Amino acid sequence: MAISCSSPLSIFFFCCLTSMFLSGIYATPEVNSTQMATQVCKNTTNFSFCQAAVYSDPRAPVADRYVLSYIAFGLAYKNATNTSDYIDFTLKSMKGGAKPAIIEALQKCQGDYKEAIRALSEALNNLDSETFYGLDKLSLDVENSARSCEAGFHGHSPISEKNQNLIQLSNICYVVSKLFTYA
Ligand SMILES: *[C@@H]1O[C@H](CO)[C@@H](O)[C@H](O)[C@H]1NC(C)=O
Ligand SMILES: *[C@@H]1O[C@H](CO)[C@@H](O)[C@H](O)[C@H]1NC(C)=O
Ligand SMILES: *[C@@H]1O[C@H](CO)[C@@H](O)[C@H](O)[C@H]1NC(C)=O
Ligand SMILES: *[C@@H]1O[C@H](CO)[C@@H](O)[C@H](O)[C@H]1NC(C)=O
Ligand SMILES: *[C@@H]1O[C@H](CO)[C@@H](O)[C@H](O)[C@H]1NC(C)=O
Repeated sequence: MAISCSSPLSIFFFCCLTSMFLSGIYATPEVNSTQMATQVCKNTTNFSFCQAAVYSDPRAPVADRYVLSYIAFGLAYKNATNTSDYIDFTLKSMKGGAKPAIIEALQKCQGDYKEAIRALSEALNNLDSETFYGLDKLSLDVENSARSCEAGFHGHSPISEKNQNLIQLSNICYVVSKLFTYA
């Protein structure tokens, strides 16, 4: 680099510019407490998880409760489908070569995730027909499915992080659903 790095001033400016640049890239997606997405996240169990998930959708900053429902249930649906495929894939690739207890638990998880995906499809269909009643219960069904899968491993879950993701995503769905029941 051509700049004299020994000068304290140039080091100062270099640091300033670098940190401005980095904060631009890594800034948490704009936190704006007037936005409904942020209001919702404040009511979830994990604010930073919620912000990162919801603001991954470009509609989030101006989303009303209806659009937010699509975002939340859509994220959960995508995640549950992905994890379900992952479980199928894992079971196939094990070909019985794993501990029977793990195989058994993964097989139970297949059922749990089928149920989660069923509940999420129902929720998305209900949104399409603007039926908001019962979205909260469907969110809890999804959370319970992920918890049930996790519990089957008795503390030795190989998919703990994936279950946690669905648990926290379904919690966002739950908080969004409540925006309709209190209205
Ligand atoms: C917060 O978001 C609202 C709605 O999108 C917007 O009108 C307002 O200017 C934003 N405020 C800040 C400080 O970014
Ligand atoms: C957050 O929770 C409070 C207390 O239950 C409730 O009054 C408020 O409507 C909720 N707001 C959002 C955006 O979820
Ligand atoms: C909240 O989410 C973040 C990342 O999204 C994670 O690192 C952290 O462990 C979570 N906190 C809790 C209490 O689950
Ligand atoms: C599932 O959710 C987590 C947390 O938001 C995210 O990091 C991950 O990319 C999601 N996976 C899919 C396939 O959507
Ligand atoms: C899950 O999603 C990730 C990223 O979207 C993708 O690379 C991966 O193949 C998916 N896994 C399954 C099993 O669908």
